[in-house]
Amino acid sequence: MSELYKFSDVGKKFSGPGENLEIFKNINLIVEEGEALAIVGASGSGKSTLLHLMGALDTPSTGVVAFDGQDMALMSPDQKAAFRNKTLGFVFQFHHLLPEFSALENVVMPAVIGGARRAAALPEARA
Ligand SMILES: Nc1ncnc2c1ncn2[C@@H]1O[C@H](COP(=O)(O)OP(=O)(O)OP(=O)(O)O)[C@@H](O)[C@H]1O
Ligand SMILES: [Mg+2]
Repeated sequence: MSELYKFSDVGKKFSGPGENLEIFKNINLIVEEGEALAIVGASGSGKSTLLHLMGALDTPSTGVVAFDGQDMALMSPDQKAAFRNKTLGFVFQFHHLLPEFSALENVVMPAVIGGARRAAALPEARA
């Protein structure tokens, strides 16, 4: 199995009006291809914060999050956008659907934005 994600001494802090809020630190984690993984913890313990790092939605305060051997913090905004469009799938806690569009259109849209032809994207979305 190949190594998909590698977290090396990863920490995340949010700066507040007073002192910084340390969410987690020293996370060392390897996720391999084909692995199913559940991240569990109390509300506010940092699960979404961790997933945001994996999804190229945020960067760590310390340490390195690597995907397929590449430090995700070094990806350009375009590389991050392409990664989120083509490589990673998210099912959000709050699903962020666009209410003006049908369910099918919501599924088709990222494929079309990512350069797929409508004629190909539509049957794929339906499936
Ligand atoms: N952008 C931010 N700025 C400041 N604090 C934040 C920010 N995002 C998250 N936090 C804080 O970080 C902590 C972890 O939040 P997070 O949303 O990762 O928790 P969670 O484990 O996903 O919780 P839940 O189970 O409720 O979804 C919380 O105390 C939250 O208030
Ligand atoms: Mg959460």
